[in-house]
This record gives sequence, structure tokens and C-alpha cells, in this order.
Amino acid sequence: MYLLIPAAGSGKRMGADRNKLLIDLAGETIFAWTLKAAQASPSIAWIGIMCQPIDRPDFEAIAQGLHLTKPVVFIQGGDTRQASVYNGLQALPPEADRVLIHDGARCLATPELFDRCTAELATCPGLIAAIPVKDTIKQVDANQIVSNTPDRATLWAAQTPQGFEVAALKSCHDRGLTEQWEVTDDAALFERCGLPVKIVMGEETNLKVTTPQDLAIAEFILRQRQP
Ligand code: C5P
Repeated sequence: MYLLIPAAGSGKRMGADRNKLLIDLAGETIFAWTLKAAQASPSIAWIGIMCQPIDRPDFEAIAQGLHLTKPVVFIQGGDTRQASVYNGLQALPPEADRVLIHDGARCLATPELFDRCTAELATCPGLIAAIPVKDTIKQVDANQIVSNTPDRATLWAAQTPQGFEVAALKSCHDRGLTEQWEVTDDAALFERCGLPVKIVMGEETNLKVTTPQDLAIAEFILRQRQP
């Protein structure tokens, strides 16, 4: 399976002055933990990393230090996650017919989750890892007044990996560009184009490291996993 890792963000919400993926976490960088999981997943055969030019030397050094046995390609990131994934899709080898996309910031995803998504992607055109929500979710209006309480049984929290047929996802991205859709994940583009997105059971611990609190929780989880 081909894997694209969007890693071209910043550290704004983390309060960091550089790409948060370069922050230390339990003895490695966030980026290194994500790469190690991809390397350990037998189903992943190729890794493409979308990053900003300023971060590329650091990312290359980290990848080299991990002695990865899989081909790793660095791809120019974009101004938004959507633009970074778009660039990644263009850089896939022509024989790539399916792809997994996994946020560099979700450094706790296990190799088993990659393998589960890869296996499921043989059966459907699009999928996302997701978990049932625990909280009751409220929809609010512009005045912060609750307008709706959706039935919790129908709500899932989206994670990555997300997997797609490459040709289908490319045309969804093209349409998204033309129609100026702004989305926060690739599945949203797929859905808007009327294509089905299947749910694969994600992992409670597969959090997206976004804030300093997330960093503390991620550190705790990784320390627990270490032998
Ligand atoms: O900011 P956030 O954590 O939601 O971003 C999700 C993922 O998308 C991160 O791994 C980040 O590096 C990546 N990203 C990107 N290009 C951007 C913005 C974010 O690849 N321009």
C-alpha cells in the first residue's frame, strides 16, 4: 500500500515556533513516532511525506536515523492540508491505484491500524478510521445557542488513516479546487462527490497531537507501551 503523510503544518495551536512534528515526545520527535509505525506496518510499501522546504532537512535526517527499509519520498507541502494532500496525490507513482493518507500529527496510530485499513480498502473505494463519540455533541448557531442535538448513536469521530482509490480521490480533489470546497479531511471531499466512505474501527489512543495537553497524554501512552 502507498502511504501519504501530510506533515507540512505549523506549531500554531501547540504554541510552538516551528512545525510541531519536530517537537520531542518520549525520546523521539512526533514525526519519528509516526514514521516508525508506518515502517512497522507490513502492509505499507511506500511512504510519501508532504512537508515545507524549511523542515525538509530535519525530516530527512530523522528518516535517515530510523534506517527505514521502505522507499521514502519527500514532496512539497501546500498552504493547507488539502493542498498538501493534493500535491501528494500528484507525486504518487503511476501504478498506485489505492492510497492511505495519515496525518503526521497522529503519531500514536499502531501498525495494526494501518494493516486493518489496507485490508479493508480492498473491499471499498473509500474508508476512514473512526471511533464512536463518547460525548453528547451539540450543534450551535452563530450566537452560540444550541440548535440541534444529533443522536449520539450515529456519530463517529474521524481519525486517520483514511484510504481511497487514487483516481476517485484525485477527481474529488480537482472538483474541490474548482468549486472552492474547504474541508478538513479527504473523506469530506469524497462524501461531497456522492461517493461512499466506510468506517473502520479506529483507536482510542490515536489522538492528533494538537495542544500541549495532547503532548502530555501522548507521552504517557508511549511510555506505557515501552517495554
Ligand atoms: O494542524 P493539524 O494538526 O490539524 O494538521 C493535520 C495534519 O496536516 C498535520 O500532520 C499537519 O502537518 C498537516 N498539514 C499539512 N499541510 C498544511 C497544514 C497541515 O500537511 N498546510
